[in-house]
Amino acid sequence: MNKTEYMRTREIKIAFQEFDKLEELSATDKKLVEAARVASNNAYAPYSHFHVGAALLLENGEIVEGNNQENADFTDGLCAERVALFYAHSKFPNVSVVAIAVSAKNHNGLVKEPAQPCGSCRQVMVETEVRFQKPIRIILDGSESIQILDGAESLLPLAFKPKALG
Ligand code: THU
Repeated sequence: MNKTEYMRTREIKIAFQEFDKLEELSATDKKLVEAARVASNNAYAPYSHFHVGAALLLENGEIVEGNNQENADFTDGLCAERVALFYAHSKFPNVSVVAIAVSAKNHNGLVKEPAQPCGSCRQVMVETEVRFQKPIRIILDGSESIQILDGAESLLPLAFKPKALG
């Protein structure tokens, strides 16, 4: 028998919205992006000079910010997204995340195209979604393009999830 008879091809599609400028966003999304932009100013990034801010909107209405924190031992630093998510749940362990906005500045100022979250931050976003059984709206900021995704599944399809542990 031909081997291909046992094979299935499965496709995963992702979709996201793209905007040209901040003014096109809803008032809530715009406010969150503005908070992420401000948060990037407090990044500790003396090595990369890449200043990232993340702002979370929590279910209880709180906005919690974070920024990247670097270290001379490079691998000990942490991204803005994880600083914000871990801080949020250290303070509000039972409150889900509605949305996260991420904004980054390089030596030219705000990046033109959004900085895409790294793999580890995507994994932590997925964990947060599973933890609270709620997708997180992800808003990625850039001066020439702002991208909005409906959940971390779109950033990390086929993610490793707690249920895999059995
Ligand atoms: N960084 C973030 O904080 N978030 C991202 O989405 C991408 C990268 C940080 C890590 C490091 O401090 C610097 O940006 C350069 O990689």
